[in-house]
Amino acid sequence: MSNKYCLNVALPKGRLGEKVYSVFERAGFSAEGIHDGGRKLIFENAEGTLRFFWVKPSDVAVYVERGAADIGVAGKDILLEYRPDVYELLDLGIGKCRMAVAAKNGFCDDTSRTLRVATKFPNIAGGYYRSMGRKIDIIKLNGSIELAPILDLSDVIVDIVETGSTLRENDLSEYEKICDISARLVANKSSWKFKREMMEKICRAFEEEMK
Ligand code: PRP
Repeated sequence: MSNKYCLNVALPKGRLGEKVYSVFERAGFSAEGIHDGGRKLIFENAEGTLRFFWVKPSDVAVYVERGAADIGVAGKDILLEYRPDVYELLDLGIGKCRMAVAAKNGFCDDTSRTLRVATKFPNIAGGYYRSMGRKIDIIKLNGSIELAPILDLSDVIVDIVETGSTLRENDLSEYEKICDISARLVANKSSWKFKREMMEKICRAFEEEMK
């Protein structure tokens, strides 16, 4: 796997990964069979210089940090939450959304009480409320976070908002924006030293695409 002339690329499974892969494709890096819809996990380009693999979006940074992938694409949310030791090469300007605090319509914070916060992002939520000196109780969930305030499991949620339709359809509102999120091209630190030329070529291809 760690061939000096082959770059291992971790792509996030899903819509964002498909968009990212199409940029590689347009830049001349395509791998046969990648769209065949089978159960195969690794795809190589014809020249054998690039190897793509699909991983769970939240795992991309783990592969890159540990060098199993030389580069990958991860959301800023994951980078802020897990703080992997990787280089952030480029903001790809896709997968745009925001991290926000939301609650039931008409919610009013009673600051004399500990605020119950449901989230998939305990570090981001913890850091945000610590910076405001607000005492909170974090309830870590793994999905469908919007259910928590509806069922009175929490007062608020800290979660990703993209179109806002999940909030709207569940009578929830956004109260505070914590930060903007988008997809980032990240690199393993030692790969950046040894495979820099190829990585820079890929960065340029993405920059062209973003113009
Ligand atoms: C994310 C996020 C929100 C939703 C926001 O969930 O956690 O639930 O998307 O998108 P919207 O503002 O466009 O409605 P995801 O689809 O990743 O699934 P999850 O509920 O399992 O986290």
